[in-house]
Amino acid sequence: MHNHLKPVLLISILACTALASHAIDEATFSNFNEIQTQHFVLDIDINFSRKVFSGTQTLHMKSLNKDLAEVYLDINDLTIYSIEDEEANNFEYKIDSPNPILGQRLTILIPSDQRGKENYIFVISYKTSPTAEAISWLTPEQTSGKKLPYMFTQSESIHARSLAPFQDTPSIKSTYVVNTTTDVEFVTRVSGNITYDYTDCMSRYSTFEMNIPVQSYLLAIASGNLVERRIGNRTFVISEPEEIEKVANEFSELEDFLSEAERLTIPYEWGVYKLLILPPSFPFGGMENPLLTFASPAIVPGDKSSVDVAIHEIAHSWFGNLVTNNNWTNFWLNEGFTTFLERKTVRNIFGEDFMKVTAKLENQTVYFEILDYGLDNGFTSLHPVFNGTHPDEALSDIPYEKGFQFLIYLESLIGEDYMLEFLRSYLKNFAYTSIDVTNFISFFSEYVHQKFTTTDAEKILSKIDFDAWIYAPGLPPITVDFETKEYNDAIELAQSFLDAKANATSALQIFKSFSVNLKGLFISHLIDNQEIVDDCMAQYIYDTLQLGDEINGEVVFRWLIVAIRSGQLRAPFESADEFVGSIGRMKYVIPVYQAMLDSNAAIAKEIFNKHEDFYHPIAIKAIQDIFSEDVLISA
Ligand SMILES: *[C@@H]1O[C@H](CO)[C@@H](O)[C@H](O)[C@H]1NC(C)=O
Ligand SMILES: *[C@@H]1O[C@H](CO)[C@@H](O)[C@H](O)[C@H]1NC(C)=O
Ligand SMILES: *[C@@H]1O[C@H](CO)[C@@H](O)[C@H](O)[C@H]1NC(C)=O
Ligand SMILES: *[C@@H]1O[C@H](CO)[C@@H](O)[C@H](O)[C@H]1NC(C)=O
Ligand SMILES: *[C@@H]1O[C@H](CO)[C@@H](O)[C@H](O)[C@H]1NC(C)=O
Ligand SMILES: *[C@@H]1O[C@H](CO)[C@@H](O)[C@H](O)[C@H]1NC(C)=O
Ligand SMILES: *[C@@H]1O[C@H](CO)[C@@H](O)[C@H](O)[C@H]1NC(C)=O
Ligand SMILES: *[C@@H]1O[C@H](CO)[C@@H](O)[C@H](O)[C@H]1NC(C)=O
Ligand SMILES: [Zn+2]
Repeated sequence: MHNHLKPVLLISILACTALASHAIDEATFSNFNEIQTQHFVLDIDINFSRKVFSGTQTLHMKSLNKDLAEVYLDINDLTIYSIEDEEANNFEYKIDSPNPILGQRLTILIPSDQRGKENYIFVISYKTSPTAEAISWLTPEQTSGKKLPYMFTQSESIHARSLAPFQDTPSIKSTYVVNTTTDVEFVTRVSGNITYDYTDCMSRYSTFEMNIPVQSYLLAIASGNLVERRIGNRTFVISEPEEIEKVANEFSELEDFLSEAERLTIPYEWGVYKLLILPPSFPFGGMENPLLTFASPAIVPGDKSSVDVAIHEIAHSWFGNLVTNNNWTNFWLNEGFTTFLERKTVRNIFGEDFMKVTAKLENQTVYFEILDYGLDNGFTSLHPVFNGTHPDEALSDIPYEKGFQFLIYLESLIGEDYMLEFLRSYLKNFAYTSIDVTNFISFFSEYVHQKFTTTDAEKILSKIDFDAWIYAPGLPPITVDFETKEYNDAIELAQSFLDAKANATSALQIFKSFSVNLKGLFISHLIDNQEIVDDCMAQYIYDTLQLGDEINGEVVFRWLIVAIRSGQLRAPFESADEFVGSIGRMKYVIPVYQAMLDSNAAIAKEIFNKHEDFYHPIAIKAIQDIFSEDVLISA
């Protein structure tokens, strides 16, 4: 049934419709179907004492509309001083009143004698606000060195507009140059190749270039006491000097991961790969900024047990960064595909069981997330309806894991070799563009028709319920199988504690032999059966398995949930307090706050107030959200 190669019209039209003039993105004010940024030059002073960027954003734009009279841009919390053309002639502009989610619309008025041009250059002088959503300013105390302050940005999803004016939509891709000036003691890194670096006695001037067109949410800037070390042919790590040894050691195999992901896909186009380990308040595990992945120190426990997060970010070099979702409804095209490539790479490096255990653990997480949202909640769909909510509010494991399971399901219908070959042609076809799910579905259907006889292709395609998988809310319509012996061992061990039949000696031996994710599955099973776990049983498990020795946050945060819910750890929740005050990764702190909140809201709030200054603005908002939901429910 394979290899009946039929002559097929390669759907080259798709590549054009991909950047069609009628994409919709509710989360931007920009009229990106009428005029498009092709290149920008951002030239900023990074001022640590005032906590602002100031300078110019120069947008090189191409008009698709001969009658264009107004250009709409996204800004949030910016002060605009002037907008000029390249000859310093002023444009008139106006700024709408703020929308609490989207920020403000900046309108540039094109005078009638300048309309009808194909290319426009807008030089916008501006400064950011100290409260910019995208920018985190850390005090010296929040760093390892404790001498210099530190700054980093997070643009995804729609935060780039708070660091400069943009057409802030993933539908628009452009190349860029970023010039930064800081006081001389700071080292700056930007998502781009560093092409110039100069210091005089006062200041440091650096220039970075990105020559592959990318979306605004990939712009990233970090500045502080940074050092960089080459660890492989194309791979580098960056951190404060205090950590560089540990980080270099943890990721000594980074080049192998990159090569393996590359072997599964198409050549890595970005040149080098740099991984920057941030201070602990970074709210995510990692962020795939091209040439400058940002990652939490949570992925550097010291025993290489969380390197798969780096593999996920590497995988974004193809899915997300080369082929991009055109709006936040299609986010699973970034994350589901990246998770798929991550797991294939992980399997080839660490083995089938490791991959399946991870898939099983994350399935557990996503399963409860879906139940939490409610089976008919639109955010449980792979094509969520936003209806005015902030794209960050839909951020969950659903686009990752339901998307991954869908791709595994498709693979089960055509076989792995065809699935990987399909992904390579998908990458080649859609590289440098932003697409939606319909582009993927047509391309997949074409591919199946190309590889199978008409009868077989129809048979395969008719099995796939695209509506149920993609558009409908709820659990995945089909359960793919990730069971392994290890998985059963972990569940059995947890069950033996629940049944009060555990053999303490052998339990400890078995538990110590588990990988981090298997330990996670073990604890997950306790969480699923929380009603059976009382404080006394939790204490017994904690002592028997020496859980106080666990260093990986994946294990610690899950255990804290059990400990708090069972009453083993009571207010003032000392060890949880210490944990949420030491790491700002939202995956860890939000469920721990939720558990504390359910147990003792007043103390949970006190703990949050104490640590608030330590967190990133995005994390603060997310934690505040769980507190306010609680208020709503109890009111
Ligand atoms: C994304 O685009 C689709 C059409 O392709 C549209 O139905 C959906 O509302 C858009 N979502 C957002 C958040 O803009
Ligand atoms: C930062 O702002 C302060 C106060 O306006 C100013 O004195 C200082 O020179 C600025 N530093 C830089 C690096 O621009
Ligand atoms: C950026 O820096 C480079 C190198 O110093 C310089 O050639 C270029 O003119 C600068 N661009 C802007 C817009 O300042
Ligand atoms: C970075 O520089 C390398 C080497 O010059 C080049 O191959 C690569 O395309 C550049 N990457 C980007 C994203 O500009
Ligand atoms: C190092 O990378 C270059 C491309 O960046 C490649 O041509 C060369 O073969 C690589 N060398 C090794 C030893 O992998
Ligand atoms: C969208 O939001 C509006 C205003 O909040 C609300 O009236 C409407 O019911 C919502 N629609 C959907 C489909 O959720
Ligand atoms: C995901 O977890 C749920 C709940 O435990 C289970 O019913 C389902 O079979 C799991 N799916 C996979 C793919 O393992
Ligand atoms: C408990 O496990 C240990 C180590 O495997 C074994 O030697 C011992 O016999 C077991 N005890 C019971 C009561 O099964
Ligand atoms: Zn991702």
